[in-house]
Amino acid sequence: MEFEDVAEERRSVRSFEQKEIPEEEIKEIIEIGHMAPSAGNRQARDFVLVSDEELKERLVYNAYGQSFISEAPWVIVVCANQKRSAERYGERGRELYSIQDATAAVENMLLAVVDRSYGAVWIGAFEEKKVAATLEIPEGVRPIALIPIGHPAETPTEPKKMDAEELIHYGSW
Ligand SMILES: Cc1cc2nc3c(=O)[nH]c(=O)nc-3n(C[C@H](O)[C@H](O)[C@H](O)COP(=O)(O)O)c2cc1C
Repeated sequence: MEFEDVAEERRSVRSFEQKEIPEEEIKEIIEIGHMAPSAGNRQARDFVLVSDEELKERLVYNAYGQSFISEAPWVIVVCANQKRSAERYGERGRELYSIQDATAAVENMLLAVVDRSYGAVWIGAFEEKKVAATLEIPEGVRPIALIPIGHPAETPTEPKKMDAEELIHYGSW
């Protein structure tokens, strides 16, 4: 697909068919995520790949009952490795760069998902400490997004968005 079509067609998909996706394809999607830039090339991001049904149910519970999470064959839990970035950049690495390294990867992956005609959604509403405990994520690493990926069982319409012109400040605010 043309890049602009991919960006335009990306929608948050919250309903998935009961159909598998090969692990290899999910790994390719993660590799595309990992092509994203990172502060000082610290690559302060890690990915926990979940397909186990029981773990997915626990993620649903940890994410305030967002039940569609467990419909997807795969959930990528994207983590900000605060420790890795803080080693070089201190507080700014811990609180900002690591989050940016991880979220840059999230957007790359969401676009790679669309390019393969799969569906996904960025989930940020979850109890972080519970997700960390569920997945045995170590200290200094913060789960920042859950990305369920599957075959879409819905075609969401585009939500109303502000015109980009309203968000652009020319020269100064
Ligand atoms: C930081 C962040 C957190 C989000 N958290 C959730 C979430 O917990 N559950 C959910 O269903 N969607 C979540 N979304 C998806 C947004 O609701 C969605 O992107 C927005 O409504 C625009 O729709 P679109 O993605 O189809 O353009 C999140 C998106 C972002 C960027």
